[in-house]
This record gives sequence, C-alpha cells and structure tokens, in this order.
Amino acid sequence: MKSLLDRDRACLWHPYTQALTATAPLPVARAQGVYLYTEDGRRILDGISSWWVNVHGHSHPKLNEALAAQARELEHVVFAGCTHRPAVELAERLLALLPRGLTRIFYSDNGSTAVEVALKLACQYWHNRGQPNRRTFLTLHHAYHGDTVGAMSASEDSVFTRAFTPLLFPVVRAHPPYCYRCPLGLTRAACQIDCLSDLEARLEGGADSIAGVVVEPMLQAAGGMIVWPAEFLAGVRQLCDRYGTLLIADEVLTGFGRTGRMFASEHAAVRPDLVCLSKALTAGYLPLGATAATERIYQAFLSEDRTKTFFHGHSYTANPLACAVGLASLDLFRENAVLERVQALECQLRAGLEPLRSLPCVGDIRVIGGVGIVELESPSAGYLDHTGADLSAAFLDRGLLLRPLGNVLYFMPPYVITESEVDWVLAQIAEVLAEQ
Ligand SMILES: Cc1ncc(COP(=O)(O)O)c(C=O)c1O
Repeated sequence: MKSLLDRDRACLWHPYTQALTATAPLPVARAQGVYLYTEDGRRILDGISSWWVNVHGHSHPKLNEALAAQARELEHVVFAGCTHRPAVELAERLLALLPRGLTRIFYSDNGSTAVEVALKLACQYWHNRGQPNRRTFLTLHHAYHGDTVGAMSASEDSVFTRAFTPLLFPVVRAHPPYCYRCPLGLTRAACQIDCLSDLEARLEGGADSIAGVVVEPMLQAAGGMIVWPAEFLAGVRQLCDRYGTLLIADEVLTGFGRTGRMFASEHAAVRPDLVCLSKALTAGYLPLGATAATERIYQAFLSEDRTKTFFHGHSYTANPLACAVGLASLDLFRENAVLERVQALECQLRAGLEPLRSLPCVGDIRVIGGVGIVELESPSAGYLDHTGADLSAAFLDRGLLLRPLGNVLYFMPPYVITESEVDWVLAQIAEVLAEQ
C-alpha cells in the first residue's frame, strides 16, 4: 500500500513550497495542546502556532464543543439577506474589544480577504464622497498583507510578488522603523523616529490622492519580524489626521494578544479607521476574516443611490461555525487571563534570548508579546537566504517546528505553552545557533 507521503506527492501542491527540492511534509495525524503527533510516531512542538493562528493550543475541549454544538444548530447560511446569532454576537464582542470608534464588522474568510475588503472600502469611501482621485495607498517597505492581488499590491515588492508585478496596482512606499537596519543609518538611542519624515513627505506629495495608509502595527511579520517603537505608530496616526486620510491597521497577525495587548494598536492608543482581523480570530480552528470600520465610513455607503452599495461578499461570509469558535475563544481569553500569560511569556523570551546576542551569527534580538525573534547575520538577508531551511531541518530533528523567514528565526508558540516548554525551546535555539 502507498504511504500517505507517496499519495500526497502524487496529487498535492503545497503553499510556499518548491516541490522539486523541499523535504517531505510532516504527516500529522493529530494535535493536542502545543504538540503535533505524526503518523510515524514523532511528537513535535508547534513553535509557529501553525502559521500564527493557534493561541489556546490544538484540539481545545471548549473550542471543540463550541464547534460541535454550532454544527448541530446551523452550519452555514447565505449572509446576504440572512443573519444569525454567532455573527451578531461575535461582531458585538469584537467591537467592544477593539479600539474605540469602530462600529461595524464586515466578515470575509481569511487574512488576505480582510485586507482586500479594507482596501476596497477605503477606495469606495472616497468615491462615494465625491473624491474618486483618492485611490492610491501608502504602504511600508517590508510589508506583507497577503497573497491576493490587492493585498500583494500593498505588500513589499519582493520575491513573493515579482512574477505578478504587471497585475498589481501601484502604491507609494515609505520607510518602516526597522531599527536594526535603519533606513537613515541612525541608532535607536540617537533617533527621534526620524524615519517618519519619509512617510510625511509622501503624504504631502499625495495630499489629494492617498486613500489610506496601510500598516501592520508594531510588528511587520512576514517581511522580517520587524518590531516597532510605539512612537512610530502614534506618529502614523497623527500624520493620517494631518493629511486627512484613513489609517488601515492590518492586525491579521497582531490581533488577539500576539504583541501582549489584545490589539497592537493599543500600544500607542491609536484608533484606526479600518482594522483587518483573521488568524487567531478563530483560535486557529477555521478560516474567518473580519474588517472593522468606523461609523463615518459606514455612513458613506448609505444612500438611495444603489450604486453606492459595497458590492463585495464571499460564499462563506460570516460562517456560523467559525463565528461560534471565535466566541468561545474570546471566552477563553477572559476565563484564563490569557493576556497576562502572554506578558509573562514576553519576559521569559526576553531573558532567554538576550544572552544570544553575543553569538557571532546573531545580528539582532527582538521580542514583543509572545514572539521571540533572532535576526541572523547574513550577507544575503532575505526570504531566499538558505539559513532558514537549514535551521528548520536542525530544529525538526530535535522535535521543534520552526520556519525561519530566510535569515530571521522566530518563535511564536500557542499561548498555552508552559514555562518549562519555553525553556526547552530556548535551549534548542541556543544549542543550534551555537553550532552555526
Ligand atoms: C499581517 C498579515 N496580513 C495578512 C495576511 C494574510 O492572511 P491569510 O494568509 O489568512 O490570507 C497575513 C498572513 O500571514 C499577515 O501576516
């Protein structure tokens, strides 16, 4: 009989995978807590929260029960012309948690679509208000907002997007506060967030054409796990106000405690005009996207003129199963004081990773909330840097799933990881890096 891996090889195409050279995928049979269990009897610690989605651990009894209970009531129904309790309740609960000023939730079904919705809402908002020339987006270098065409356009021009460049709409890009590789050659100690002046100059240059500024607040993730000073985020909000444009916060990764606050916008008490959510929205169970908007934006779509309608929707918009798990996940945040756990995790990661700075291969250490980052010295820094694949294999041999982004190694576990499990992971990282 053919093995699962043989059958996989014969019929599947995996994401972000060069099938000609990639090692075989892990045949995962089941998962519990922070561990994946493979068909061939291995137990592997999920050090990346299964692409940053898992927060309460795999196969959580409360989430399992919420999913099963919802399936017995209503699995799905069209969301144009129908509504249901899980969608309404989740929207109410999200709006109560999100920064003030956001009053409406538009559901979709993943992180990229949450971003697409935000971009389209911003564009049509200006169109409906009689300023159709405001349709350019200001984004940041090193940004990653997803893999659909709009989300790719807003992302950095990179190996991820280059084959599609002719299909992408033009955006204006400004410097992010990448302190380790400061675009202005400054050190953090000597800077007054000077990199904001680049953003300001571009806003000034596009005063009548910028529809919105799109950012991943506090942590630019796939573009290299770049942690921001909160002052930069505060400055972006001030500049958006000064130049009368919208602030779009892509909290697809940073939402739901990943940076130590429920939402990263809270680090600078910023109130975005649009917020994109997904990933941990359903604690890693089911695909769901949500875009939150202010009342001012919502009101711009209300009209007797039907052409002002937001003509956008997905078959699985507001899927009740996903919403029900999202609600149960929010209960767990409250019942288990999850944000406090993330803050303790941050302290442990900082204490454990800082000593690695002295290793010759280590360039920078960054920690925010439940994310610990080691940027390795590398002449060819970037996603295609081979260090990532080599390290990944070394960690897997030790029973740890990590997927460095090129030369940027990061650890982002489900929050239920115990202190001793974190210590074990930190020891694995120290040992593997000491061998480099
Ligand atoms: C900040 C950010 N935005 C959007 C996305 C896209 O989300 P999805 O993979 O669910 O389409 C990601 C995915 O990693 C992300 O990190």
